Amino acid sequence: MRVVEVTAYGGPEVLRSVRRPEPDPADAPGRVRVRLKAAGVNQADLKIRSGRYAAALSALTPPFVLGYDFAGTLVDPAPGLPEGTRVAGFVPWVEEATGAGTYAETVLVEPEWLAPVPDEVDFTAAASLPLSAVTAAQALDLMALPEGSTLLVTGASGVVGRFAVQLAARAGHRVIALGDGDDAHELRLLGAAAVVPRGAPDQEVAGVLGFAPDRVDGVFDAALIADPLLPAVKDGGVFVSASGERVPVAERDVRVDAVVGRPDAALLKELLDLVGAGALATRVADVLPLEAAAEAHRRVEAGHRPGRIVLMI
Ligand SMILES: NC(=O)c1ccc[n+]([C@@H]2O[C@H](COP(=O)([O-])OP(=O)(O)OC[C@H]3O[C@@H](n4cnc5c(N)ncnc54)[C@H](OP(=O)(O)O)[C@@H]3O)[C@@H](O)[C@H]2O)c1
Repeated sequence: MRVVEVTAYGGPEVLRSVRRPEPDPADAPGRVRVRLKAAGVNQADLKIRSGRYAAALSALTPPFVLGYDFAGTLVDPAPGLPEGTRVAGFVPWVEEATGAGTYAETVLVEPEWLAPVPDEVDFTAAASLPLSAVTAAQALDLMALPEGSTLLVTGASGVVGRFAVQLAARAGHRVIALGDGDDAHELRLLGAAAVVPRGAPDQEVAGVLGFAPDRVDGVFDAALIADPLLPAVKDGGVFVSASGERVPVAERDVRVDAVVGRPDAALLKELLDLVGAGALATRVADVLPLEAAAEAHRRVEAGHRPGRIVLMI
């Protein structure tokens, strides 16, 4: 099968298209094969490719196959899902540490990593959301704020942030979105009560206090701004980061934590159904062939992409 391998840690040029044997379900009883149609390119893929997690992933040496998100069709039946069902999900790549990611024609997955894709949702849209939308939902769960809380979401122009804005608004919170000023209109349509344009941290805090003079109950920091935003949080509030590498130092009884997205088939099904019903927007910035993975990484690295870049397989 066709895959894209990380041949050595480094820049996008280390990504190479090669052929590998198809995964054999006999090697992992209980797992099922998915024939991929699309794979999302996540920020984590870039960090792993660069070698940033090489020490943490010391058991794994290049060459290996990157990739969390997938959408495709079931080759083997899974509980409640017959062969041929359109499915999407994400491989918990770091926890798995097998280097058998989704930049590949076929992956072998646990049934609880995947959910059926509604007819209304195409494969590229389905591959754009699993890790990001599940992580955004799990971050909100981790915050455990009562309905009606005031919540700041940073990186609101990005993929995880956009989902967090929409899901928090659906949960009945008053959402302040910190994102690109140009996206203000769209972020309001997605449910933000107020939009603070990105800028210097003290301006951002002043902007948040302009909308929430008593400060916010919680922050979900998808832009990894961390400590400079703490003054915007109430005493005893909550601050959840999208990365354990960027968690602020706690002060004034603010609970600080980091979310780690974990596969959850039921939650993913709910999110895909919302997309199918037109109640949750997902955005695909570009669709490129699998073989153009290096170009996809360059585009993600350049930033300012309005949505997920997806590889067609
Ligand atoms: N914990 C988990 O399990 C998990 C799961 C998924 C993602 N993540 C992490 O979550 C983060 C967001 O992921 P994503 O997929 O949403 O990435 P993304 O689409 O690139 O979004 C990040 C957004 O933050 C913006 N940003 C960066 N620095 C900023 C700053 N100082 N102030 C304001 N905005 C800033 C970016 O703008 P520009 O593009 O213009 O720079 C972009 O709009 C990444 O660090 C990713 O690794 C964690």
